[in-house]
Amino acid sequence: MQFFIYGVSAGNMFYTRDFFMNQNASMFGISLIILTLIVAVILGFMAGPTSPLTWLLLIVLIAIPFLYRKFAAKDFLPWKDEYSVGIESIDQQHKKLINLINQLQTAVKYSTGEEFEREALDELVNYTKTHFTYEEGIMEQNGYPGFESHKSQHVRMIKKVEEVLAEYENEPDSAMSNAVNYLKEWLINHINGTDKEYSSFLIGKGVK
Ligand SMILES: [Fe+2]
Ligand SMILES: [Fe+2]
Repeated sequence: MQFFIYGVSAGNMFYTRDFFMNQNASMFGISLIILTLIVAVILGFMAGPTSPLTWLLLIVLIAIPFLYRKFAAKDFLPWKDEYSVGIESIDQQHKKLINLINQLQTAVKYSTGEEFEREALDELVNYTKTHFTYEEGIMEQNGYPGFESHKSQHVRMIKKVEEVLAEYENEPDSAMSNAVNYLKEWLINHINGTDKEYSSFLIGKGVK
């Protein structure tokens, strides 16, 4: 399952607001470690024959930015060609949905404030509805046999999102992290599974 790669199922503890509220503290801690390593490496080189420990510290110092970037990127979804359903108009919409999920992830991860979070969540929910309407229209117009069951998946998903939005009014912190986790997992699985099932049928009907 693709979403395991992104750590969505790594446990909700990684998505709690407390964790993200500590982002600044983490950045401060990392800066302090880097500064300490720089001083240690400089002193190591100045102290005469360079010891293996100084070289080791230098390697750690060089590796920190790469490791940090990798760690920071793990929560974001990249578009992958394997997600393509072979229909350009739908692929473009799926790409936009992934961008909007990443925007919401940014809002949560970097504590950008309630207004930005709300806008990001609203934009994602509204665009998801727009996309579902488009997809259902194409399936219905072309007489896709799996239309009803596909549509019912969309309906269930929207219902779940509306529950999350209602929860947001009472528990904004946990609701937001729940929303990101749920949407990431659901959308990737849906795009990569259920949506692909209509590909050959709709392509055969000339849908682009
Ligand atoms: Fe879709
Ligand atoms: Fe769909």
